[in-house]
Amino acid sequence: MQRRLLIPALAIASPLAFAAPAAAQGTLNLYCSVQIEWCQAIATNFTRDTGIRVNMTQRGSGESLAAIRAESQNPRGDVWFGGTGDPHLAAAEENLSQAYESANNAALHPWALTQWNQSGRRAIGVYAGAVGFGYNSELLARKNIAPPTCWADLVDPRFRGEIQVANPNSSGTAYVIIATLVQLMGEEQAFDYMRRLHPNVNSYARSGTGPIKAVARGETGVSLSFVHDAVTERNAGFPVAYSTPCEGTGYEIGSMSIIRGARNLAQARRFYDWALTEPAQRLGFEAGGQLQQPSNRAAPLPPNAPDLGQIRLIEYDFAKYGRAAERRRLIERWDREVGSLPR
Ligand code: F6P
Repeated sequence: MQRRLLIPALAIASPLAFAAPAAAQGTLNLYCSVQIEWCQAIATNFTRDTGIRVNMTQRGSGESLAAIRAESQNPRGDVWFGGTGDPHLAAAEENLSQAYESANNAALHPWALTQWNQSGRRAIGVYAGAVGFGYNSELLARKNIAPPTCWADLVDPRFRGEIQVANPNSSGTAYVIIATLVQLMGEEQAFDYMRRLHPNVNSYARSGTGPIKAVARGETGVSLSFVHDAVTERNAGFPVAYSTPCEGTGYEIGSMSIIRGARNLAQARRFYDWALTEPAQRLGFEAGGQLQQPSNRAAPLPPNAPDLGQIRLIEYDFAKYGRAAERRRLIERWDREVGSLPR
């Protein structure tokens, strides 16, 4: 009996023994700010393609920036993959990331390279996505509430306690929404709008995708979200639909940066090059169910993904709203004037 048990054990052990040289390729400490399914898919596939082991930590965009800042004297991460572009620009300005030029830059859409140029070659675009409204069509129909189509709709009393959005301290999505409103309305009017919106908001979630997941579960009627995340929930079988604001809306250039002082710099560059390739960029949808617009021109827009060309986008000023001081100032103002309001 014991002998028979030994045979499969050896059979399992032998491929591991052959995998040993791959382990000698080293390790990569990956900070990841997309959804966990995608983070896991890139970690697994990168290890399979290169033999480099990956230690992956998933956090929201604002949380990743805070961690990289806190560790700047003794960096623990090598690469930061994904998350909204503004905090990557802030990291570049604060000298928390380092410049790199990949041979694969030539394969990217111009907007991905605009991010790279604006960041002093420290952050590059890996995907793009637009802000909009996600909603639970069954729940709204049951409550006889017409879905929102404009920013102006959201402050209507019919949405009292029915909306969820994330907290900009942890979530890059929430910061893009604030910066979008400021650009659309002007700062004073945008803060006035957010104060008027507050009674309709039932909770400020920690992560940018928290609100659309709450919509999918029927816990809230409406979320302010990246619209690609609404399609992910719909594809998972939930009664979720989306619309994009009639007045226009903002968008993200989801980005990637190599952390300054990365201990595994060769592995970090290898990952960066790999993450810009067409097969790696297909993984977002094929392995992670994500529907952003990939930055590699050869990577197709996933089926039923929102087409940014069809959405009324503002000329989002990434240089201004990605500035570290501007980001900090707007978030502090939000904390003082919106987040701390009583319910
Ligand atoms: O992974 C989904 C996603 O919406 C990305 O498109 C975006 O960059 C990220 O989440 C932002 O997450 P958070 O708002 O939690 O920082």
